[in-house]
Amino acid sequence: MGTVITITSGKGGVGKSTTTANIATALALRGKKVVAVDFDIGLRNLDMILGLENRIVYDVVDVMEGKCNLSQAIIKDKRTQNLHFLPASQTKDKTVLDKQKVEKLINDLKEKFDYILIDSPAGIESGFEHSIYLADRALVVTTPEISAVRDADRVIGIIDAKSKKAQEGEEVQKHIIINRLKPELVEKGEMLSVEDVLHILALPLIGVVPDDEDIVKSTNLGEPIVLNEKSLVGEAFRRIARRIEGEDVEFLDLKSKKGFLDKLKGLFK
Ligand SMILES: Nc1ncnc2c1ncn2[C@@H]1O[C@H](COP(=O)(O)OP(=O)(O)OP(=O)(O)O)[C@@H](O)[C@H]1O
Ligand SMILES: [Mg+2]
Repeated sequence: MGTVITITSGKGGVGKSTTTANIATALALRGKKVVAVDFDIGLRNLDMILGLENRIVYDVVDVMEGKCNLSQAIIKDKRTQNLHFLPASQTKDKTVLDKQKVEKLINDLKEKFDYILIDSPAGIESGFEHSIYLADRALVVTTPEISAVRDADRVIGIIDAKSKKAQEGEEVQKHIIINRLKPELVEKGEMLSVEDVLHILALPLIGVVPDDEDIVKSTNLGEPIVLNEKSLVGEAFRRIARRIEGEDVEFLDLKSKKGFLDKLKGLFK
């Protein structure tokens, strides 16, 4: 049976879909059979990040309503073997999902895939609750800003109260991803540090992803940055995938890299 990992946040726009696409790709590159599921009904964009928007015929709501079967709706990724994608519906109403139908869908996916990665919508409405209900694990994405961290803290409370595991007296395994860190701002005291964020959220860290303009370029190209072997952000995502698989991997030393670059620049002044 596959593992269901929900990628969520409190605040919108912090990088959930980017994270989902990259971790899904990284796990597939490791030979795991992966499906990335877009639960952002009405506002899908995971398809764009994966470059699969033109291949969509059926979507997750069509499957739940019995208009097609799962195999008809699942799209095989163009570039990465073992990676699959189940699109959200763009036109239909968010309230269309219902608990039983979501549960059947996820259980069917668990039989076919090693990892089911669910890209959660922004906010804490019904779409969000459906996305966390069946999670075995949750990756809570936040940027190092106080508003995002506070919203992440609320979401952690909701996962512990409303997930199926919580209802059954178990716990969803939760980890923090800090996205868009700018080491130079942290060093100047203008941005929360990794330690500040973890102090507030009191959960284990599974990854720190630096802020990098190349992410925007890769999204426009529909090629997750993790496919670029030379990218530091790509490496951050690859390491998260390894940690998901239980490997003990060092965290990228973002601070000293910057320090190193500064020293190098200093030499040429
Ligand atoms: N590490 C990063 N560095 C630079 N830009 C980033 C980074 N991560 C994400 N972005 C950019 O931030 C924007 C929001 O990212 P994304 O769509 O993944 O967030 P989201 O949490 O899924 O948003 P929503 O809540 O609307 O679903 C995008 O333009 C994306 O390219
Ligand atoms: Mg998104």
